[in-house]
Amino acid sequence: MKVFVTGGAGYIGSHMLTELLGEGHEVCVYDNYVNSLPLALDRVRTLTNRPFETVAGDLRQGERLAESLKAFRPDAVIHFAGLKAVGASAAFPLEYYENNVQGSIALLRAMEAAECHRIVFSSSATVYGEPRYLPFDEAHPLSPINPYGRTKQFIEEIIRDWVAARSGASAVLLRYFNPVGAHESGRIGEDPLGPPANLLPFVSQVAVGRRPFVSVYGDDYPTRDGTGERDYIHVVDLAKAHTAALTYCASRPGCEAINVGVGRGATVLEVIRAFEAASGRTIPYRIVARRPGDTASSVADPSKALALLGWRAERDLGDICRSAWAWQSANPQGYRSTAS
Ligand code: UD1
Repeated sequence: MKVFVTGGAGYIGSHMLTELLGEGHEVCVYDNYVNSLPLALDRVRTLTNRPFETVAGDLRQGERLAESLKAFRPDAVIHFAGLKAVGASAAFPLEYYENNVQGSIALLRAMEAAECHRIVFSSSATVYGEPRYLPFDEAHPLSPINPYGRTKQFIEEIIRDWVAARSGASAVLLRYFNPVGAHESGRIGEDPLGPPANLLPFVSQVAVGRRPFVSVYGDDYPTRDGTGERDYIHVVDLAKAHTAALTYCASRPGCEAINVGVGRGATVLEVIRAFEAASGRTIPYRIVARRPGDTASSVADPSKALALLGWRAERDLGDICRSAWAWQSANPQGYRSTAS
């Protein structure tokens, strides 16, 4: 299959490429490198020993995007590109709507021009907002609590309408829970710019000595140990959900939203302990105030993914921490410190 991957140089995109190339698919990456580096793509080339095309471009450069798609003529698109910082989305909502929503409309237009009618979209469990019940199934009402989450919800709706208007078109909207971990080689992984906003990369950087301690945002939630509980999904399992979604799209027109999670939660303290076991390092932490906008618990009901895609997560929290440590210990400063 020929697959056009927006945001392919990013954390999830780069893991996706290794899966696609490993399965023999032909790939073209479209990325503006706003939150990623071309070096990640060099690492993917070395890892897989497979060539692929790259275009440096922004989704909002409509003509460039349309030309790239027309030249490559993909069978399907996997759409990762987008801004994803919750705090920044509240401070700069228009940038988020321009990048994420307008960018996605430009992508669908370019797909029409290239006669491509299949898309797998990188959505987020953040579209559910505060849980009315748990685990979240796909029928849970959508009520995101920040502009970032709303961009994901709006793009879902736009894709749904686009599919409904085109006979034979198909889309899978994958609602990720908390993607974490790294490729087992330790050659690619998550490399946030500046202090990580998310738990796992922060814990990894404390383990490797880049930061002194983890701030645990609250220990008075109604969970097993009082700290926040999340459904952490290994990024390689997540990538495999996309290849399953591509297969599904190829034979079934229509649009489906599907959760991608393990179906089991881990608390902040459980994550810290698991990372200590994986790394052999002590991870100092301090309990601090809750982070505004955080929910006590977020866990997926992943049964639809199994029923429709035949996919389920195969890696557990131990695998997640071991792979994240393999990446972080071999690349203490991320991609920036070493040559490829
Ligand atoms: C966050 C985003 C969410 C996004 C997801 C991507 C917020 C409010 N939500 O989700 O929209 O889709 O990342 O993966 O930013 N924690 C600490 N100390 C830290 C960091 C986190 O205790 O330094 C805790 C949090 O309170 C939470 C858990 O760890 O209980 C996970 O946090 P995080 O990794 O930021 O993910 P989410 O908040 O689930």
